[in-house]
Amino acid sequence: MKKLAKYHKTHKDRYLEELKDLLRIPSVSADPAYKKDVLATADFIKQKLEDAGVNNVEICPTKGYPIVYGEYIVDKKLPTVLVYGHYDVQPPDPLDLWESGPFEPVVKKTKLHPKGAIFARGACDDKGQVYMHIKAFEAMKANDAVPCNIKFMIEGEEEVGSENLAPFIKKNKKKLACDVVLVSDTGIISNKVPSITVGLRGLAYLEVEVTGPNRDLHSGVYGGAVANPINVLSKMIGSLHDKRNKIAIPGFYDNVARVSKKERTEMNKAPFSETKYKKDLAIKEVQGEDKFTTLERTSIRPTLDVNGMWGGYIGEGAKTVLPSKAYAKISMRLVPNQDPDRVSKLFEQHFKSIAPKSVQVKVTPHHGGVPVVTPTDTIEYKAAHMAMQTTFKKEPIPQRSGGSIPIVALFENILQRKTILMGFGLDSDAIHSPNEHYGLFNFYKGIETIPYFYENYAKLKAEE
Ligand code: BES
Ligand code: MN
Ligand code: MN
Repeated sequence: MKKLAKYHKTHKDRYLEELKDLLRIPSVSADPAYKKDVLATADFIKQKLEDAGVNNVEICPTKGYPIVYGEYIVDKKLPTVLVYGHYDVQPPDPLDLWESGPFEPVVKKTKLHPKGAIFARGACDDKGQVYMHIKAFEAMKANDAVPCNIKFMIEGEEEVGSENLAPFIKKNKKKLACDVVLVSDTGIISNKVPSITVGLRGLAYLEVEVTGPNRDLHSGVYGGAVANPINVLSKMIGSLHDKRNKIAIPGFYDNVARVSKKERTEMNKAPFSETKYKKDLAIKEVQGEDKFTTLERTSIRPTLDVNGMWGGYIGEGAKTVLPSKAYAKISMRLVPNQDPDRVSKLFEQHFKSIAPKSVQVKVTPHHGGVPVVTPTDTIEYKAAHMAMQTTFKKEPIPQRSGGSIPIVALFENILQRKTILMGFGLDSDAIHSPNEHYGLFNFYKGIETIPYFYENYAKLKAEE
């Protein structure tokens, strides 16, 4: 590992310059206007995998954006790690809130990142973290120190639901055969407190359309006599939480796994300051489900949120109008053992049942995902734990995350393999937000830690 440290030192500036090149390509999967760029990003990843010494690198077409696959087989008898990540990013909007262009990466110092952080869409989620893996591999390969077989599968549709990845995995079970999946697309508690993600929430996402009169009306001539769909939708949404902030959809909590007192006590020992949390977000008070802490509300409990709501006139100045339609995008984060399809159906039934006769309601489900919890009593967890302990010089804490990576459940169902979620981001990195960034400390720490994971894993497997 000394050789690797020396290699990193010589090449670290180039690592960063290459990451900047990757961040300059606007691979926004949600917006067809960026199609050429998303495809160019797949080519870029392929090239960099090849340059690093990965074999059989190919761009695998799908009905949507392609999956970049590559492998490095040292010896069929050695264990195989499948690295998964995504090269697509979220849309950069709202653009005017970015201090520098979302696709013009710059390094700036911040309070939490005194050594600098790279600012750009995708810096942390997930291009920066994918790139750590490519550079960690490059260093191992260049130093003849690849301790196990490694396969790479980098997709371009994670941010839009990974719809084409499941059929790809089903079709390519043999190619993707592995002992464990390794993903860096999550975070740590802080740069002083490393952690390993051991849970992800699931997701049910729906769009609702409420229609009142058959056309927009003058709000003076008709207002007061005809139901306003925006007023109605607001009321309906308002009723989805009760006074104790429980979700008021019948049956919603039916399958929610209860977490034992002991586990909850353990979980709340993780370092967390509510005062700092509130200060960081400029809020006077946190809010959420009664009788649960902030850490619990964002990990082991399900939620319902409006992600966007629109209708009527939203342009400059005042236009008096009683709109014909109102819309909202609603997401529910799910926990074990909730099923996204069942929850979506419950939502639709309930939402239609609370609609007054004066309006019509249409509900359209979007992509969803199943929640996951990963075990800590496995060889792979131990390998990740030891790796982080070595490089951070502190024991990492297992922590469940509130975010979702729907494909992880499918690794378990289709490939029958567990996933290690060894990410290096911080909650404050503003992923999906303006001014997304990724600490250089985190980028380099990831590159340093990943080879230890492979080494530990290969060793522990051999002793098995
Ligand atoms: N990398 C995130 C998920 C994440 C972020 C997990 C932080 C844990 C901590 C991923 O790219 C993502 O954004 N997932 C979406 C779901 C997807 C279906 C669009 C999410 O969680 O909203
Ligand atoms: Mn991600
Ligand atoms: Mn994301």
